[in-house]
Amino acid sequence: MHKWRLIILLVSVVIVSVSFTGNDQVAVNLRRAYSQSPDKWPKPFVDAGVEWTELGVLPGSPLQPHLDSLKHLLELGKTLFFDPRLSGSGKISCATCHQPELSWTDGKERSFGHEGTINKRNAPTIQNSWFYKKLFWDGRAKDLEDQAFAPINSESEMHSDMRELPRNLRGIKGYAALFDSAYGDPGIYPDRIAGAIAAFERTIISRKTKFDNFLEGKKKALNNDELKGLHVFRTKARCMNCHNGPMFSDNQFHNNGFHKNGNADNDRGLYNVTHRDEDMGKFKTPSLRDVMKTGPWMHNGIPAHILDIIITYNKPSERSHEKLLKPLYLTNTEISELAAFLNAISAAPLEFKKPVLPE
Ligand code: HEC
Ligand code: HEC
Repeated sequence: MHKWRLIILLVSVVIVSVSFTGNDQVAVNLRRAYSQSPDKWPKPFVDAGVEWTELGVLPGSPLQPHLDSLKHLLELGKTLFFDPRLSGSGKISCATCHQPELSWTDGKERSFGHEGTINKRNAPTIQNSWFYKKLFWDGRAKDLEDQAFAPINSESEMHSDMRELPRNLRGIKGYAALFDSAYGDPGIYPDRIAGAIAAFERTIISRKTKFDNFLEGKKKALNNDELKGLHVFRTKARCMNCHNGPMFSDNQFHNNGFHKNGNADNDRGLYNVTHRDEDMGKFKTPSLRDVMKTGPWMHNGIPAHILDIIITYNKPSERSHEKLLKPLYLTNTEISELAAFLNAISAAPLEFKKPVLPE
């Protein structure tokens, strides 16, 4: 009898210690390390000379949408954003390609604009766009006001004319009152149209994710795989060299070598703007917040699956010329942990109440 008890005890000790020293012990250690304040986290693998900041909680919008002084301006901006009468055909609004229920993207590889013209690039989300120092994949717009002119005038997007748009809007009676409330008089001018749209866009931010909850003290918000993914992201996978800070972007431009993948026309990216050789094929580092909701990805919408992206980073293209990209030697387990972490920084879009358009 006594002997049997001893054997049972021994067997259970073995089982318990196996489950602790196995995988789980790694997670236990990581959970301990990452439960400290971020300045005590394991050092990220970031190359010398790279300016970076630690990951962090989702920042709010610099615009306070509840301020009374802004209420009418934001209402006007939202209305314009959703109004297809801003386009030449009367059929396409900003929201056609930046749909709230698709996390403000269009879910397409590349956008269809005026009469189905295929756009050269993938439509990024407008969430958190207040954060970028330059707008568009190639940085050709200096701010959101400047940016708003482009799709309205673009032949492949809304095919309208910002110079004539005010006259068209004056023909819609309800707009006079909206401009009056927003600007103090009913005048409709290009700068006011762009200003209202830009103000509205500055209020569009993403939602807090599991990762934010974890940072704010809910230590179980990340499961073991997501936690290991966070660690891989910050260390072995070297993602922090570019996707760093609370927004997961360095606000810089890089050539990842994705520019020719299956794409006949070679997109020169930042080079088109600066005409400097070193900028050939560079694109803006996008935020990774909500990345699992904003596919297809990259400036050309080519990668079909998030794992394709990670696998490409694991063995970067020789076309890239980007010194920060190196072979990573990630195992399949690390690749799937990284994907789990990208899920943990993505939240489903909130239901958005669309405006009633004026008559
Ligand atoms: C036909 C689809 C389409 C329409 C309509 C459209 N966009 Fe876009 N939008 C895109 C595409 C594609 C890009 C990326 C283009 C590029 O980078 O060259 C983009 C880029 C942007 C960006 C830059 C985001 C970033 O991270 O740099 C903002 C902001 C934006 N659009 C706002 C608007 C606004 C405001 C309107 C309406 C006035 C609008 N869009 C209409 C497809 C569209
Ligand atoms: C050298 C800088 C750099 C590094 C390192 C880097 N990225 Fe990127 N990332 C970029 C740039 C630039 C783009 C946009 C490239 C393009 O459109 O051609 C991008 C795009 C992405 C996208 C697509 C996002 C979207 O909205 O389209 C994902 C996902 C992504 N990166 C994940 C990662 C992960 C995971 C790592 C680590 C394994 C990583 N990146 C490492 C610079 C970098």
